[in-house]
Amino acid sequence: MQGFPWIETTNIQEVRSAVSSWRFAGERIALVPTMGYLHEGHLSLVRLARARARRVVVSIFVNPMQFGPSEDLSRYPRDLNRDRDLLAGVEGGIDLLFLPAAELIYPEPFQTAIEVSGVSEGLCGGSRPGHFRGVATVVAKLFNIVLPDVAVFGQKDAQQLAVIRTMARDLDFPVEIAGGPTVREADGLALSSRNTFLSAENRRQALVLSRTLFAARDLISAGQRDGETIRRFLRETLPAEPGVKLEYADAVDAESMAPLFRLRGSVLLAAAIFVGATRLIDNVRIDVPAES
Ligand code: PAJ
Repeated sequence: MQGFPWIETTNIQEVRSAVSSWRFAGERIALVPTMGYLHEGHLSLVRLARARARRVVVSIFVNPMQFGPSEDLSRYPRDLNRDRDLLAGVEGGIDLLFLPAAELIYPEPFQTAIEVSGVSEGLCGGSRPGHFRGVATVVAKLFNIVLPDVAVFGQKDAQQLAVIRTMARDLDFPVEIAGGPTVREADGLALSSRNTFLSAENRRQALVLSRTLFAARDLISAGQRDGETIRRFLRETLPAEPGVKLEYADAVDAESMAPLFRLRGSVLLAAAIFVGATRLIDNVRIDVPAES
């Protein structure tokens, strides 16, 4: 396709041939997988990828396998022209935009899936059965198609990042997994493609999510070490906001995602809420020094 300062393709062979010519020239390749409707969070990952590799591949694919039957697959926002404009604005640009169709990723009869246990089980894995199976499977496929040296994911989806790190390690994918910090609006709201669904009132109510996570982190900074106390604080404060329904809130180990009773090491405070019909997730990480 023409008109863009990058290779744009819906075709696996075209990706493979571009990538193999770069590899032949000794160039490092980075992959940033996305579902599109890009925002500054995605673009920050593209910049990170640029800093880590000579060639940057971005994929846009709204992956049906990671949505449950009653979830928002058909409603998921899409605007390819807007995405292209945003990518064109990134300094240094990108080298390839991969836009596969669902039939290309899941040719019938598709019979394989990747299941990462343990780390997939709580938090989003608990409330979205099959979600991380869909994520791990599509990401494994993208790794096999693009063969990147490094792949970049956001800490915004901390459990997803942990699942992908586990999969890459367990299955010996020859790819380095890099994480980028969560990009937020000035008032704290984490950027998300789903924020576009929020009415002005919902947008105000949604602020309870980051505000409460930050407040819980402050409690830990001030010396709180009891996981149950932090959990209770999160689980009471979040649904107290009008219009907000709690899906989950927890204090877990940032690597294993296992709930913590005594807070120590790298702690992840993570929550999911519904604001009206829109599901939002967020998390913060805090390193708790060893007790003396
Ligand atoms: P998507 O929600 O489009 O997110 C793509 C990448 O952007 C993910 O790594 C996500 O963590 C990151 N991201 C989202 N919001 C961010 C923010 N505010 N700050 C920093 N990074 C942010 O996550 C997915 O797509 C899919 O599950 C995918 C990995 C593409 C597999 O289908």
